[in-house]
Amino acid sequence: MVGLRPAEASLNRIITDLSMETENDTIIDTIRRFYGRYDESSRLASGSFRLEFARTCAILTRCLPPAPSHVYDIGGGPGSYAAWLADRGYDVDLLDAVESHVSCASAVPVSGVGAVRARIGDSRSLPYPDRSAEAVLLLGPLYHLTDQEDRLVSLRECLRVLRPGGRLIAAAVSRYVSTLEGLFKGTFADPKFQRIAAGDRATGQHRNDDEIEGYFTTGFFHHPNELRAEVEAAGFRFDELCAVEGPAGLLPDFDRAWENPTTRSWILEVANAFESEASALAVSNHFIAICTRT
Ligand SMILES: C[S@@+](CC[C@H](N)C(=O)[O-])C[C@H]1O[C@@H](n2cnc3c(N)ncnc32)[C@H](O)[C@@H]1O
Repeated sequence: MVGLRPAEASLNRIITDLSMETENDTIIDTIRRFYGRYDESSRLASGSFRLEFARTCAILTRCLPPAPSHVYDIGGGPGSYAAWLADRGYDVDLLDAVESHVSCASAVPVSGVGAVRARIGDSRSLPYPDRSAEAVLLLGPLYHLTDQEDRLVSLRECLRVLRPGGRLIAAAVSRYVSTLEGLFKGTFADPKFQRIAAGDRATGQHRNDDEIEGYFTTGFFHHPNELRAEVEAAGFRFDELCAVEGPAGLLPDFDRAWENPTTRSWILEVANAFESEASALAVSNHFIAICTRT
């Protein structure tokens, strides 16, 4: 689930090379340790993550101001969305807590007229001026920050750097994703996974203390109502919540279905049909809040 593959980056190198204010911050250490073990750079090109990428791009196409706008991609990882945006003429500043992701994002090829600049940093303290961007993507930090106050601080930073009328696109992981994956992908056969999923359902606090591969890392999984409440508490006007994958993300034998053009079109049609269906948001691996700085 939300699973990633082994990475080449060494943990020691990541820790010693970094020199940000939050060096000793436990949650940032946890994030770096996780991405030191797993490869984020090819995730969106594999398995059902391909649906996540296609659907997120569709949502961005609909919700972002037109290019050439200035976009901050906070927690932008290795730069998949930043490159996609730059190819469409956007001017993108990416920030991420993990050095190997920033290195990768700095080197992404851009074939369009836009640009990508990448730097290391923390969503809780953005190194950007007030009112300096037309849009902010926050596709990652909200599921790594386990403390609500940290999530609110990050959201307020996004508000601060947006121009009035600017848009925030903020993603969360559903707190039911582990339960649904346990059923559809068979991981309920492991009693440890059953306990993790029960904890997610009860509190949203996801813990994988044994660091079992494929079970993600320390994180927070939202109920859709919580995501809305948090963006409003941070001062945004809430516009809409949309499901990214919808139930289509649960399809068994996803790869085969995605590789066949006919069944891929069905997958996309179902995901699109459920995008705005509030009663089904929580069955989607990810949902996104679209909000505006008024
Ligand atoms: C699952 S990855 C998502 C990457 C990319 N945004 C995407 O959607 O594919 C989560 C990313 O958020 C970054 N991240 C998590 N918490 C962060 C924080 N507080 N500040 C900066 N980056 C953070 C991680 O380092 C990681 O690159």
